[in-house]
This record gives sequence, structure tokens and C-alpha cells, in this order.
Amino acid sequence: MSSPPHAALASSFNAVAAQYAAARPGYPATLFEAVEEVTGRALAGAEVLDVGAGTGIATRLLAARGARVTAVEPGEGMAERLRAAAPDVRLVRGDGDALPFRDGAADLITYAQSWHWTDPRRSVPEALRVLRPGGALAMWWNQPDLDVPWVARQEERLAARCPAYRPPGFPGTVAGRLAPFGVRTTGRRVRWSRSITVEDRLRSLSSHSYLAVMDAGEAEAVLNAERADLLTLFPDGVLTEPYVVDLVVGWGAAAD
Ligand SMILES: C[S@@+](CC[C@H](N)C(=O)[O-])C[C@H]1O[C@@H](n2cnc3c(N)ncnc32)[C@H](O)[C@@H]1O
Repeated sequence: MSSPPHAALASSFNAVAAQYAAARPGYPATLFEAVEEVTGRALAGAEVLDVGAGTGIATRLLAARGARVTAVEPGEGMAERLRAAAPDVRLVRGDGDALPFRDGAADLITYAQSWHWTDPRRSVPEALRVLRPGGALAMWWNQPDLDVPWVARQEERLAARCPAYRPPGFPGTVAGRLAPFGVRTTGRRVRWSRSITVEDRLRSLSSHSYLAVMDAGEAEAVLNAERADLLTLFPDGVLTEPYVVDLVVGWGAAAD
């Protein structure tokens, strides 16, 4: 089976928004501290556009740190969850490739594991237009920590069984993709973990695009095999899920 087109993967989250909202991981405080340190400004009071906000996992954490955050999300299924979880947050249905905002509107544009769904030929000029002079982009991805053997083995199995699987390590290519637009970047890496049940880990996996686009029966077979493996490793049904968050902060030429 060949991998589905990018657009089908990008919109696949709407069908699994409930699992996404229930089980996907958040982001640690150290990530937001790194964003503040690298950008040189506090999130409190900053005008932030959180693009590809999904169910609002990052949006709510930014708001909790005092950012004046607007969530930007193209998909109705995901937006509906965000509205339910954060009714006070301003939500704009929009796309990173055509931001519905005036020039110079934002201090910071964030993409929490969403920038790779945009088309850089359009999304980077759009972000540079909407940022005020000196404003920054911040994009980050929760990546499975492949230094942990059971995680590495599970990723290998998922890669073998899911045609649209994308290997961790994508953030390493981001600086090269931004450079043609005159964007200079700084990267940071933050490690963290969370304790969850095996069932929630499976729910979280099922909300990944590479499983969401599979035939339902095939996806269920993959998840059943993973359940059996995880319960052998963690018979009491609880595990520690280790993450590496890769952060890339970028500035346009106007910031120099
Ligand atoms: C992996 S989810 C990330 C959601 C959220 N930011 C988080 O941290 O959990 C990716 C999100 O990007 C959205 N998306 C897909 N294509 C997009 C685009 N061109 N512009 C902005 N967002 C997009 C999807 O609808 C989805 O909500």
C-alpha cells in the first residue's frame, strides 16, 4: 500500500479528534522557559498566534503563562474540541499557508507539531508578514525518545506496518527549509516523560496521522499487536512514556 497524499494526512486528525484530545501528550514547562530564553521575551503579555492549534493542547499552556493567544486551526473536528476545552480562547478557523491576520500583528507565531503540515513556500512568507519586526517563529515537536529500547522497537514496528509513518528526526531538517527565506534559527532540546496507562498510549498512537489514514481494520490490528507487546512489558498496564521535544526558533531578516 502506498502512502496517502499530504492533504489527506493533514486533515486526518479531524476523524480522531476525540482520541487526540483524550490522550496526546502536553508539553513541559521547560519548553516554554526555553522559548522565552531563546526569543528573549516573556510569554506573559505577548501577542501569540498558535497555528495548527488542534484541540488546544499548546494553546492552553501558552494562555496559562499569560500569553494573549489566538488559536488558528483549519479542521472542524479539531476546532470543535478546542472550543469545548477552552471556550474563552479566541479561535480563528484558518490555515498557516494563508494567515487571516494583518501585517505585523504578532510577537510570536507558534506551531506545536503542526509546521510540517504547512507548505513552506507559502507559510514562511505568511508568518514573516504577520510577525511584527523582531518577532519570532517557534515550532516544536514531541518526539519519541529512541534512546529507550522499548520505544525504539515500537517505532520500528510502526514504521514497518504503517505506510504513512514518518520517522522521528524531522525537526533536524527545519533550519535548512527556513534558510532560503532568510530565516535564521536556534534549536533546543528538552527531555521529559509522563506516566500513562497502556490504553491511553494506544489511544494516543491511534491519533497519529499514519494510523488515522489506515483502513480501520488494519489500524486495529496494529494497535492490538502493540497492546499485546506493551502488556508483556508493563503487565500492570501503566508505563512511563519518554519524550524529546525539539524546539526550533526562527527570526526573519528584519530582526537583524
Ligand atoms: C499534530 S496536530 C497538532 C495540534 C496541536 N498544536 C498540538 O500540539 O497538539 C496538527 C494540527 O495541524 C493542523 N493543520 C493541518 N494542516 C495545516 C495547515 N496547512 N495550517 C495550519 N494547521 C494545519 C491539523 O488540523 C492539526 O490540528
